[in-house]
Amino acid sequence: MSAGRVVVVGSANVDLVVAVPRHPRGGETLLGGGLQRLPGGKGANQAVAAARAGGAPTSFVGAVGRDDDGTLLLDALRGDGVDVTAVERTASPTGTALVMVDGDGENAIVVAPGANADVGPGVGVAVVAAEPAVVLAQLEVPVDAVVAAFRARPDAARSVLNAAPSRALPAALLAATDVLVVNEHEARDVLAGEHGDEGGDEGPADPTDTARALLALVPAVVLTLGARGCVVAVRDGDPVAVAAPVVEAVDTTGAGDVLCGVLAARLADGDALVVAARTAVVAGALAVTRAGAQPAVPTAREVAAAAP
Ligand code: ADP
Ligand code: NA
Repeated sequence: MSAGRVVVVGSANVDLVVAVPRHPRGGETLLGGGLQRLPGGKGANQAVAAARAGGAPTSFVGAVGRDDDGTLLLDALRGDGVDVTAVERTASPTGTALVMVDGDGENAIVVAPGANADVGPGVGVAVVAAEPAVVLAQLEVPVDAVVAAFRARPDAARSVLNAAPSRALPAALLAATDVLVVNEHEARDVLAGEHGDEGGDEGPADPTDTARALLALVPAVVLTLGARGCVVAVRDGDPVAVAAPVVEAVDTTGAGDVLCGVLAARLADGDALVVAARTAVVAGALAVTRAGAQPAVPTAREVAAAAP
């Protein structure tokens, strides 16, 4: 059986990565290490992860500039076999992420959205309406575009929302979401948005309780827990904990993106949500053993070899 297409709607950024001895304070200038220029952006990372997972053909929908950075990003996606025919090239500069990585592998990141802010509600709708099995989106592009893409999907296609960067979610977006993927921090902000409070620091909650609370908003939830793997919850069932393999973490950048892309690819290939999550968690764990985001995305063969 051939797998249905994965359509990823989202951001593409050039990551300008510099190693720092520690993160600078306000007003401070530090000398860092050599500069790396890498393809990134949550949307593009997730598209690469879906493509390397094999099975489902993958399309990316988004916007880049007409500059060299835009060409670099499209070439990287094409190199992984991702269809980019629906990507718009706009007059804005290509999105850029300024990434500082300290000696403990901890990141501080600032994103200048650039062309990602030009992704409008009409972008890629033809691709979304055509034949996808899964439409996967994040929140580095305007929310209106994500809502429009989810609404344009065929009845049989599932929408998967990775609510990152963290924020409260508008009702129209929640109503169009079939599967919500969040880490614990994002989960708190989504739930706080629903209750109209500040969010942020409630202290540790039981992940199973958090996942159940999110089921009031969407039919299915994948709550990611870093080294602890994830919890998968659907209505009418008990939440299921999926453990991650124990690995030595080198760089956690993009682990969540890898999990989302692989999850979408496995769903498009017909796996049930928990089964898809088991594979996605292994892929996420492999990604943290390697530097960078897109370069760290494992292949289906590597994931199969590492599966418990
Ligand atoms: P995000 O990057 O969005 O914050 P997480 O940190 O929850 O997401 O990581 C996503 C997935 O990557 C986890 O569910 C797990 O599979 C894997 N992962 C992340 N950090 C580790 C780690 N230290 N050890 C093993 N797996 C990890
Ligand atoms: Na990594």
